[in-house]
Amino acid sequence: NKCLAAVDLGGTKIYTALADSRGKLLAETRVPTNPGEGMEAVIRRIAGTVEEVYNSGGAGRDICCLGMGVPGPVDPETGVLYQAPNLGWRDVHLKKILQKRFAVPVLVDNDANLAALGEHTFGAGAGERNMVYVTVSTGIGGGLILDGKIYHGASGGAGEVGHMVVEPMGPLCGCGKRGCLEALASGTAMAARAREMAGAGAGRAILAEAGGRIEDIDAGAVAAAAGRGDEEALEILWGAGRALGMGLANVVNLLNPGLVVLGGGAMNAGKPLWETMEEELRSRAMPGALERVKVVPAALGKRSGLLGAVALAMGGRPPGDFPQ
Ligand code: BGC
Ligand code: NA
Ligand code: ZN
Repeated sequence: NKCLAAVDLGGTKIYTALADSRGKLLAETRVPTNPGEGMEAVIRRIAGTVEEVYNSGGAGRDICCLGMGVPGPVDPETGVLYQAPNLGWRDVHLKKILQKRFAVPVLVDNDANLAALGEHTFGAGAGERNMVYVTVSTGIGGGLILDGKIYHGASGGAGEVGHMVVEPMGPLCGCGKRGCLEALASGTAMAARAREMAGAGAGRAILAEAGGRIEDIDAGAVAAAAGRGDEEALEILWGAGRALGMGLANVVNLLNPGLVVLGGGAMNAGKPLWETMEEELRSRAMPGALERVKVVPAALGKRSGLLGAVALAMGGRPPGDFPQ
């Protein structure tokens, strides 16, 4: 009686689930990532969550495989994570480390690639042969489903939508370079912008949403203030929406997807961000590709990546049949 474990490792949270061999969730949990404590601590915490879901839903079963999404470009063949901009990790042999730890086969892929797979298998992208998933969260990630399959490129690094350059002299990005979409429109970027404002004595409505503490300002506080009609908060969302729309226009022009699925916590920023994004996309993308593309919110919400990790672990083959 087999089951699979799935992990969605993010810059802020770790989502972990146990599923049966058909992908039905048996148990799930989420804990903070706290990357500041270092890689060893994060890996220990991941192991703890796997144990937890196993203890609550795995009675009488064996884990046959672990599927995991990671927040950075990774080679799914070798299991080497090249860089995780929001964890501060470089060149980590994740697959090797985790396989040693768990003594089961481990499959890894990029978190946004898996979210794309999750939405394609179980959610908004069902039946769509060419789709793009974009998450706006701690970072900005992209996953490409082309001709029905995740497109990995030559070494696993394809689909890094968040690091497309949309403003050559723009702000510094977590990847170490300037002007990336992520540095302008991620939840982290919106929060940083608002903290800057508050530090200069402006952004009072946003600061109030964070209980008056600058360090507690996050994208949620910006969205809340914008929801009350605060102009400064709206400016931040509009700016992020414009950058996102620009990035999406590039993606649409390059790939001509039938569907763009948007997910991630920052998409809860609602109408102001969404509408500016669509407007910018509509005004910049080329005819032909533009008329065909639909832009929709993720159907699986916070679970796109987790369910993608389940789909990865299922691998289209019967449990117990996984290569070592
Ligand atoms: C990484 C992507 C990842 C995204 C969301 C970005 O900084 O480069 O690989 O998908 O964050 O976690
Ligand atoms: Na990706
Ligand atoms: Zn970058």
